[in-house]
Amino acid sequence: MADDRKLSEEKRANLISELTEEILDTAASIAEPEEDNENLANMIQDIRERLSFEVNVLLNEAVTKLSPRKALERIAEVPKRTFQRFGINFRAQHTLMFVSVIILIITGMPLKFPQLGISKFIIVDLMGGLENSTLVHRVGAVGLIIVGVWHLGYIAFSRVGRRDFFLMIPRPRDIRDFFRTLLFFFGRRASGPKFGRFSFIEKFDYWAVYWGMVIMIGSGIIMWFKEWFPKYLYDIGREAHSDEGLLATLAIVIWHFYNVHLNPDVFPMSWVWWHGKLNEDEMKHHHPLEYAEIVEAESREIIEEKDRVADTGSGDA
Ligand code: HEM
Repeated sequence: MADDRKLSEEKRANLISELTEEILDTAASIAEPEEDNENLANMIQDIRERLSFEVNVLLNEAVTKLSPRKALERIAEVPKRTFQRFGINFRAQHTLMFVSVIILIITGMPLKFPQLGISKFIIVDLMGGLENSTLVHRVGAVGLIIVGVWHLGYIAFSRVGRRDFFLMIPRPRDIRDFFRTLLFFFGRRASGPKFGRFSFIEKFDYWAVYWGMVIMIGSGIIMWFKEWFPKYLYDIGREAHSDEGLLATLAIVIWHFYNVHLNPDVFPMSWVWWHGKLNEDEMKHHHPLEYAEIVEAESREIIEEKDRVADTGSGDA
């Protein structure tokens, strides 16, 4: 059985490499690239990697889609496939967080920039005075503290939470992906990097919020209960709160909003925060490595099932 598996893995690897080389050869015979181009070797390597990846994905898809189970599903007209990216627990955390953060920004920024007309409008006309607006700021703060504690519990006690937390940890590959993205944007590479479950962009977003929450909640509590703390700590807390508050607001408005709203790939908004789902095309486009892993696991399952049935059949005989 193990030998069969090895053989089938070998067959797959050979097929991928053969198809890749065939496409490259055909392209070279049509394009007739100039020999003295020093970037040629890099470009060919780039294209080879990309082709091997795509051929691998296509192969897995072919195995999955041609299997009898899939054929039956097609007959039963199962709706187009979707992938559950985020569960209800994570989506609820995200919702509470963004509602709290919007409240905190709207009631916090006017305190930092009291001279602006919009600050007066928010505090006086909208909130009915400073007392009310600071009370609303504290309501938002309680929301954010609940999310912080909830998320720590989610990481500690939920299997999916733990898995995602470990996948969020930055790795050397993220630095490489960052530079590859820059090279792609400057037209120096044929394609951008391929991402797994979390790209370096999403990791940056996550850790900026994680770090920001520690600072904002820590310094906010010092200001809220200032009678418990020495004066110098209050001064440090206020400075940190004020500056990190602005930094967090800008990070959300520039980085996060671009990635989940303004980016042409998702404009006007990615709805994954609401239903938690991605369709097959979105999975292939945004998380091709995770997609490849899922499809490969499924095709492996199908092959194993086939082997099991064959084994049982030969045992019966
Ligand atoms: C994204 C989260 C937050 C943002 C953007 C934010 C923003 C701000 C800003 C800009 C100020 C004015 C600082 C200044 O005077 O220069 C402020 C004040 C304050 N914040 Fe926050 N804040 C956030 C979270 C929190 C949290 C979690 C707490 C409590 C745990 C908190 C408690 C306070 C308190 C006590 C003040 C002093 C004014 C008041 O009494 O309302 N803030 N906040």
